[in-house]
Formats: sequence, C-alpha cells, structure tokens
Amino acid sequence: MVEFENFIPQVTADGSFTFFSPEFNESFHSHFGAKQESYFKFVEPTQLAQAAQKPVVRLLDVCYGLGYNTAAALQTIWRVNPSCYVELIGLELNPAVPQAAIANHLFDQWDYEYTPILTQLAFEGQVNTERMQAKLFIGDARISIQAVNQAGFYADAIFLDPFSPPQCPQLWTVEFMQQVSVCLQKNGWLATYSCAASVRTAMKLAGLNIGSTPPVGRRSPGTVAVYPDNECLSNLLPPLSPEEQEHLLTRAAIPYRDPQLNEPPEVIIVRRQQEQQACSLEPTSRWRKRWLWKNQTGHSKT
Ligand SMILES: C[S@@+](CC[C@H](N)C(=O)[O-])C[C@H]1O[C@@H](n2cnc3c(N)ncnc32)[C@H](O)[C@@H]1O
Repeated sequence: MVEFENFIPQVTADGSFTFFSPEFNESFHSHFGAKQESYFKFVEPTQLAQAAQKPVVRLLDVCYGLGYNTAAALQTIWRVNPSCYVELIGLELNPAVPQAAIANHLFDQWDYEYTPILTQLAFEGQVNTERMQAKLFIGDARISIQAVNQAGFYADAIFLDPFSPPQCPQLWTVEFMQQVSVCLQKNGWLATYSCAASVRTAMKLAGLNIGSTPPVGRRSPGTVAVYPDNECLSNLLPPLSPEEQEHLLTRAAIPYRDPQLNEPPEVIIVRRQQEQQACSLEPTSRWRKRWLWKNQTGHSKT
C-alpha cells in the first residue's frame, strides 16, 4: 500500500474534505469547514487581495498539509490580478499528505482551476511557470525554516498551520516563532487559526504585534500578527478583547520553548509545565470562571 492511501477523506460542515492524522491524533482542519477555514483564518487576515495588486507576492505556507491554504491563496490572488507573479514556499513534514489530497481528488469539490499546479507541487516538489515559482520543502519545519531564512526569502503573507499546541508544541515555541518572523517582510502579515495564550505570547516574544481574527466557523478567534515598527499595519490589527487580553496574564500564557529547535515534544511540554507550576500568574481556570460569569450575567465579579 502506498503511504498516502492511509489517509481517508472525511467530510466537514462546508462540504469540503479533510483527513485525520493518527500520528498527531487530530484532524487536519476544523470540522466546521476545511475550505472556509483557509479563506477566513488565513487568506483574509493576511490581506492577500490587497497584496495581489502588486506585481509580485511572496507566500510562506508553514505546514502545507493538503495544500488548502495555498489553494485558497492562489485563487484569491489571481482573481484580483491574473498577472501577479507568485513566489511560494511550503514547509511540510510528510509528502504523503499533499499527495493523498490529489489522489483523492479533494479539489474537485472546490471546483478549482489550479489543481495541476498543486499536483506538480505535491509529486515533484516544485513548480515553475510564467506566473509562479513554488517549492515544497519536505522535512521538519524547524530545520527547513532555517534554510528559508538563509535564502533571504521575505514573505508578504505567512500561514502558520501546525496541529494544535498540545499535539505539536515544537512548532509553537518562541524559538520557532522567531525563525518564522524573520521571514516576514516588514509590511507582511502572519496568520494562524490558534488563539492559545501560549501561542500569542510566543508571537509577542518573537517581536510581533498581535490582533484577533473573527471566530468564523469555529467557536474561537484566530490570531494575526505584524511588525510593531509598521505603525500603519499595527493600527489595522483587529484588537484583542478585554477577555483575550486578560488571558495573556494567566498561566496559559507561558510559552513553549525549544532552545536548540530540536527537542522531542514531550520534553517541550514538560519544560512548560514546570515553568507554569513555578510561576505566580493567575490560574487560567479562575480567569475562565470569571469570564463565564461576566458573559452570562453582563456583570463583573469582584
Ligand atoms: C493542521 S495540518 C495543516 C493543514 C494544511 N495547512 C492545509 O491547508 O491542508 C498540519 C500539518 O503539519 C505537518 N507537520 C507536522 N509536524 C511537522 C513538522 N515538524 N514540520 C513540518 N510539518 C509538520 C503535518 O504533516 C500536517 O500536514
């Protein structure tokens, strides 16, 4: 059996399909809708429709997976400006994932016109056409990201889409976020579906300003980030609510760390737990109860 036959399509609420990863014990997308997640959590928050007005747009797709975020990005960019030249780098651990998406014809449901590009990227690892240059780096993103940095690639948009922090903490650490943020162009936008306080703290420690993206489809918002020295962009960031700001003052906000970018997930998780136990921050359960009360009654509890 070819490895990509291990992935079995599962339908999500918007009719698009996803896979389940036995290795990470998690779905690749929200069950609320895989396709809509790509548009609402990644493509819209990174302002790609505006970026597409430029002659060249550079994208970094961290955790390329089935290729949905890239697919949604290409459709958005070329709808706005068919002659926009796209430079894309995707980072993915398991080449069987994008190959399985193609083998299972998952883009047929999208009524998608760029499937040949995604097919070539999945099976050959690169694409060169008159309006695109794309490369898929296969391997641990903690290593690949260093090669991307050394190549001097600066992205207008970065999609950060690993499995959740408890399942894949190695791609949410302060050190990994620092590597990713180096690839962000000074006017660029970075987006992720996660609103975890640990993730948001790691982004801030990596030198980014953060905002909150609307909770479309999911119950929780996502996060978008820009460089703080770009005042114009920072002013456009959708602000965190008071509840989200207080979340960043609780124990949940202790970030994951991986000083040499090479530790196993268990080590990264235990280090954070020890730091949480030793800290004097408010327990997150207290914050959660307080806000449950406020949201239910409209009052603040003293
Ligand atoms: C939530 S899925 C991404 C979904 C994808 N963005 C899409 O649009 O279909 C997470 C992906 O991260 C990949 N992954 C897990 N660990 C990784 C690592 N250390 N480096 C690179 N990719 C990794 C998994 O193989 C999986 O494809």
